[in-house]
Amino acid sequence: MNQNHVVFRSCAVLFAMMVLVAGNITSAQAQPPQGEKSLYERLGGVYSIATVVDDFIERLLANDILNANPAIKEARDRVPKAGLKFRVTELVCQGTGGPEQYHGRTMKEAHKHLYITEKEWDAMVADFKKTLDKFKVPDSEQKELFAIVGSTKPDIVISSTTPKMQ
Ligand code: HEM
Repeated sequence: MNQNHVVFRSCAVLFAMMVLVAGNITSAQAQPPQGEKSLYERLGGVYSIATVVDDFIERLLANDILNANPAIKEARDRVPKAGLKFRVTELVCQGTGGPEQYHGRTMKEAHKHLYITEKEWDAMVADFKKTLDKFKVPDSEQKELFAIVGSTKPDIVISSTTPKMQ
């Protein structure tokens, strides 16, 4: 397995971690059956995961659809991107069975003030796909990752009846 492949597999781990943490799944629950490597190990550990998170967050920060939302734009300008990458990396590492612990907010708490819409969610998913493709994550693992990320959607996307910030 070459370096790029390990990094791309880490991409999947990252998203899995975020989703698992968002769903209050503990690192113990992320442990694989006896004799099998954890997802964290298969992805190449924290350095590989951090590399994938870095690529993904950079895409999101430059996404015009996301930045058209004033609440997202405000947070983008206010929150140091190195800290956001750190928190997301923590989340992915914990959720995939690594030794790192996530110390951030729940997905609901972290995103409720951003008023994220379906359209913005879809833009995020498209960027995630680009990162996974860049690192050549296999289709089967991409499907698993998208399923995991999708499980956080109810905590992140506003309902159509929620008033949007002007
Ligand atoms: C359209 C989708 C998303 C957008 C636009 C978005 C944007 C943001 C922004 C701007 C912040 C910083 C908020 C602040 O501190 O005021 C944040 C925090 C965070 N997001 Fe997202 N996010 C999205 C989806 C996700 C998903 C799917 C996950 C994980 C599965 C995730 C994980 C996190 C984490 C771990 C933090 C840090 C929480 C903390 O520091 O306590 N985000 N997000």
